[in-house]
Amino acid sequence: MCNSISDADRASFDLDRIRRETCVVGIDYHDTIGSTNTRALELASSGDVELPLLVLTDAQLAGRGRGSNQWWSAIGALTFSLLFDPEREKLRSEQIPLIALASGLAVAETVDSFVPAAETRLKWPNDVYLNGRKVCGILSEVAPTRATRVVVGIGVNLNNSVSDAPESIRALATSLSDFARQQFDRTEFLVRLLGRLFECLRSVAEDQEGFADRWRSRCWLQGRTVQIQTGRQTVTGVCQSIDDHGALLLQTEAGVQRCFGGTVTLVL
Ligand code: BTN
Repeated sequence: MCNSISDADRASFDLDRIRRETCVVGIDYHDTIGSTNTRALELASSGDVELPLLVLTDAQLAGRGRGSNQWWSAIGALTFSLLFDPEREKLRSEQIPLIALASGLAVAETVDSFVPAAETRLKWPNDVYLNGRKVCGILSEVAPTRATRVVVGIGVNLNNSVSDAPESIRALATSLSDFARQQFDRTEFLVRLLGRLFECLRSVAEDQEGFADRWRSRCWLQGRTVQIQTGRQTVTGVCQSIDDHGALLLQTEAGVQRCFGGTVTLVL
């Protein structure tokens, strides 16, 4: 189902509706902000916030990506961070690394509900691709001062157009509006996404193996030759799948290797 909206409606979010219709207890909203993840990490250390807390902005000016990467977003993009207690969501500590993958799946399934004609895939470990181009990036961080606080930051190219992005991004990225040639209601998208996200976290907690089929069926890297860089180690192989524990399975000359993280490069 698609939701067309006017320019005026697109200006901001319906915060009351987000409070009413999602599991978030608090919303920390900013017209503009540097990085919602940085703000959420600050709030995590301050201690007295009610969780789950949504840090939401209309315009993120210094978005952070994985490692030292930056995250480009323009007006119309959806950028937010969710601060929550994984124990309250019944997640065990060894399941914390799966949060990014589960969040990616939640984004992919939400995108499907808006643009069913698109092919939405997960590029392990934490990107969502729409018809072969990156449409969403996810940065999951554990608060350094409190291991029971996790921040999952999500940037979706929704109503922004990548035609406004720097050249290096334009070649690899897309947005929902570029794909569908229409604008979407950001509140509606966010409400559906948060619902899906909490459902995915619950599924990981309750039935990780059953849930793993959902991310496996969307593995964009499957069948592709990739190089995974982790620190000084580089592994090259053909991606077979993602296993029940969220590891990428690579067929290498030395046999099948399980990779738990790292930077992925396609070998063409
Ligand atoms: C990546 O692709 O490397 C991850 C990008 C994550 C971007 C999101 S946007 C909302 C949140 N705030 C940030 O500063 N980063 C994340």
